[in-house]
Amino acid sequence: MKFVVAIDGPAAAGKGTVSKAVAAHFGFAHLDTGLLYRAVGAKVLKGSDEIAAATSLTSADLDPETLRTSAVAQAASKVAVNPEVRRALVQFQQDFAKRDGGAVLDGRDIGTVICPDADVKLFVTASAACRAERRFLELQPKDSSATRDGVLADVEARDKRDRERATAPLIPAEDAIVIDTTDLSIDDAVAQAVALIEKARTA
Ligand code: DC
Repeated sequence: MKFVVAIDGPAAAGKGTVSKAVAAHFGFAHLDTGLLYRAVGAKVLKGSDEIAAATSLTSADLDPETLRTSAVAQAASKVAVNPEVRRALVQFQQDFAKRDGGAVLDGRDIGTVICPDADVKLFVTASAACRAERRFLELQPKDSSATRDGVLADVEARDKRDRERATAPLIPAEDAIVIDTTDLSIDDAVAQAVALIEKARTA
């Protein structure tokens, strides 16, 4: 059985949490496509050329632990503007989506570019203030220099770059269903996503 769920949205909107929960619920495989761009960004921070980094990427480079810093997030958003970098990462993502047993991919352009024929497309969003607060609470224990204002400025800079780039900008697909998590608990956001997917599976 092939069944693809595309989950897009801005930074820290909850799409990672929703994607993981949905994948666990249905037994689907999950790919956090942001990790691909983060891995390229991390290599660039270490001095690599961005296109060389993107074309030589392997699954061994996708270690979430080392890639979850603000510096890597900004670097990821910068390399993601380059159409050649994006092109180099398409095949990996589309191969992942083709696997038997169902797949959830989350990112910025899954419903619009990577999997335009996905069975379900969700766009998970929240206000910038709410997303920055969540990211701040997540970063604070690991990074004592993190400040609320600094995190909000980072989130807004990344949003702007991701939304305004010419190639595959962050935008909901025409047929995406929007889930705004600003005033939703994690459980409620997951329940909405599960219900929408269930409905599509039985349609
Ligand atoms: O989802 P994330 O925060 O880990 O993504 C990091 C950056 O990677 C994001 O700011 C933009 C880029 N990205 C992208 O351009 N396309 C995707 N499908 C996923 C991420």
